[in-house]
Order: sequence, then structure tokens, then C-alpha cells
Amino acid sequence: MTRDKRVLVVGSGGRCHAIVDALSRSPQVQKIYCAPGNAGIAAQAECVAIDVCDVESLVNFAHKESIDLTVVGPEASLAVGIVDRFVEEGLRIFGPTKKAAQIESSKEFAKRLMAKYAIPTAGYEAFDSYDEAKAYVCSHPLPAVIKYDGLAAGKGVVVAESYDEADVALRDMLLDESFGKGRVVVEDFLDGPEFSFMCVVSGEKVYPLAMAQDHKRAWEGDKGPNTGGMGAYSPVPFVTADVEAFALEKIMKPTAKAMVEEGVPFKGVLYGGLILTADGPKVIEFNARFGDPETEVVLPRLESDIYELFDAAIDGRDCTTKWSNDALLGIVMASTGYPGSYAKGVVIEGLDNNDAIKYHMGTAVKEGKLVTAGGRVLMVVGRGQSLADAQQKALAAVAEVQCDGLFYRRDIGHKVLD
Ligand code: AMP
Ligand code: GLY
Repeated sequence: MTRDKRVLVVGSGGRCHAIVDALSRSPQVQKIYCAPGNAGIAAQAECVAIDVCDVESLVNFAHKESIDLTVVGPEASLAVGIVDRFVEEGLRIFGPTKKAAQIESSKEFAKRLMAKYAIPTAGYEAFDSYDEAKAYVCSHPLPAVIKYDGLAAGKGVVVAESYDEADVALRDMLLDESFGKGRVVVEDFLDGPEFSFMCVVSGEKVYPLAMAQDHKRAWEGDKGPNTGGMGAYSPVPFVTADVEAFALEKIMKPTAKAMVEEGVPFKGVLYGGLILTADGPKVIEFNARFGDPETEVVLPRLESDIYELFDAAIDGRDCTTKWSNDALLGIVMASTGYPGSYAKGVVIEGLDNNDAIKYHMGTAVKEGKLVTAGGRVLMVVGRGQSLADAQQKALAAVAEVQCDGLFYRRDIGHKVLD
């Protein structure tokens, strides 16, 4: 195999750092560019100052630099049709088209698809009228799950414990149009532990990745506001071989097939946000991309060549993956105040004090010093023989990071470790 492939990764967070890191282990990859990247990614890839939504500049860059493969990180790039444009230009790109990415951007599209193809998920109704939505919610048991049908940066889901709380959410979404003009989906409440099952998909072909679990709430004990994710681990002990087989055969594969039958074949990472109920796994949501921070604990366990996996998926070839038995547990260090407002530009030191993996989520270099540059700043990942071992290593490593403006959760993994 010759090491001659030139790759462009689009994105700037910890997820992209983990993708770049995995690509740098490929025996085929000679050069990695990242647009726009960040201070940590810059150690492994050449960062180019192009915005993730500036598709024409990315197309021009890919032509000019003879890029063999482009990998897309963020949903925002998919939503502006980056894949459609690259394909039009004859450029090889790993990710779903804008239409296929609707499985993430439109809750109603996803719910209708699951209903039509009998993919296990919560029962639902969609509404654009406040009065009808309210009447429906009030005639059903609590808690009520109310979702704004569109991208709302993780803030469009309310699990209401009372009818008053449900009313506030419906007013907010349908009368005050806080997220814009749109519909809401009201779902039955599902109970059980959640897990993230990411699969590389190419039409009907599905190549499963290792399981992970995210921690969405900002504070310890799963309290506080929802965030992009405060930590993750892989593997997930309660996802037994049987649960995994069910999730693959009854959820992920049928969904990939359904997308083909609907005329919107999916190519890219299909992220199943699943919940293990008493009746087996069911879908909470689908995403059309790698999860963040799940990717940061999943990809370091991949022992086979990730370039080969992306390349095979683009062409629909078979590809087998190999995974390490190691356990990985990552803790997000976020700016004080996140997910609300926070300061930027705070100096970070001590990253070289130990050999734990540090994926940069939001960092920059200012006057020669590493500084914070986002809400989520670093993902510190411990690797061990067991999750307890990985947790202990991650905790020891975060304690050595010196920065005045960061907080983190010490209980990542608590659902399986306590
Ligand atoms: P989503 O943006 O659809 O992933 O929803 C965000 C979070 O809300 C999920 O991670 C769940 O914790 C919760 N949630 C969403 N839908 C349901 C449901 N049908 N039943 C219970 N919890 C839910
Ligand atoms: N960690 C959840 C997500 O990537 O959407």
C-alpha cells in the first residue's frame, strides 16, 4: 500500500480532532488538511482558514490541492449541501446529501420514515396548531415529550412533567415561534438508559462502529441544562451482544434500507440515539454525522484503517473493521458559564504533563499561548483495561490541566460505574 492519499477534514471541534487523529494512523494517508481546524488539530493536520459552510471555497481548495477524500464533521455543512456540490464537481466526499441529512434536520421526516417502516420508536403526532397540540397533550399521560421540528441547537426538546410545563413549551414553539416558524412533534415518553450507536452507511450497507454513551446535562448527577455533551465512554456494558444485534438488525439496517426505498440513499455516518426500554431498544433521534463527544472515545478504539472504511463506503464496497478491547472514557472541560455565556481567551497549561489523549474542542493560540476559544474546550480521554481504569486515568489527567476558566463533571460513567 502506498502512502499517497490527500485528505480534507471539514470542521473544528473535538470530533474533527478525533477524525484527523484516526486518519493520521492510516497507512494510506500522506497529508491531512483541516478547514478550519483548531490549535490542537494543527499538530496533526495543516489548518486552512475556510469556514465549514463556505462550500465554494472548499470545492476550490479540494480541486487545487488534488484532495482524494473529504470528510465532513458538522451538520451545518451538510445542511448547506456540501456533499451535493462536491459530488456535482466529481470530488470524493464522505457524508450524506442535503436530502438524506433530513433524517436529522427534520424530526417529522424521521418519525414518518420510522412509522412507515416499523422501526421501533416512540409513538407521535405532529402539529402546527397550538390548540390541537394542547388538546392532544392534555388527553395523554405525563411526562409529555415536545420537540420543535427543526434544528434548534439542542434546545428544541422539552420533557414536561406537568401540563403547565407542556403548555409553556407549546406556547414558546407554536405561538411565540422562539425557534422560527415550524411544527412540533409530540411523542410518547420512553424510559431507560440511552446509548449512541453510530454506523457508517452506504445505501443498504451498514458498517457498525463501537457503542458509546454521552452525558448531555451540564452538571454532575445529570442535573442542569442540556449541552452538546459533557463526556462519553465506550464500550457500554448494558449494550449486550443481543441488544447490539437487535439495534443493528431491527433499527440501523432497516433504516438504511428505508432511505434507499424512499429515494434518498444515505451515505455517511448514521447516528442512532437509542434508548434501552423494557421492550428493547428504540430510537430517540437520528443524526446524520459523527456524534460529539462520542467520536472521541470510539475512533481511538478502531484498529483497522479508517481511510479504507470511508473509501469503501463511498463506493459501496465491503469493509471489515477491527476494534480494540480497551475501554475509553473522556471528560469534557468546558468554559465556566457554558452552555450559557462564557469568556474566551483564558490561558491553558499543563497539557503535556501526562500521556492521556487530549482532543481540542475549542482552543486557539494567542501570543504564543494556548487559550480557550469556545464553550466546550477540551476532551481529555483516559484509556484502560476497564471503564473504571479509564475513568481514573481521565480524572487524573484533567486534574493536571491548569486553566482558571474551565469546569468539568467528575461523574462521567456513573451509570455503569457506581
Ligand atoms: P433529542 O434531541 O431528540 O435527542 O432529545 C434530547 C433528549 O431528550 C434525549 O437525549 C432524551 O434524554 C430526551 N428525550 C427525547 N425524546 C424522548 C422520549 N420520547 N422519551 C424520553 N426522553 C426523550
Ligand atoms: N453527542 C450528541 C450529538 O453529537 O448530537
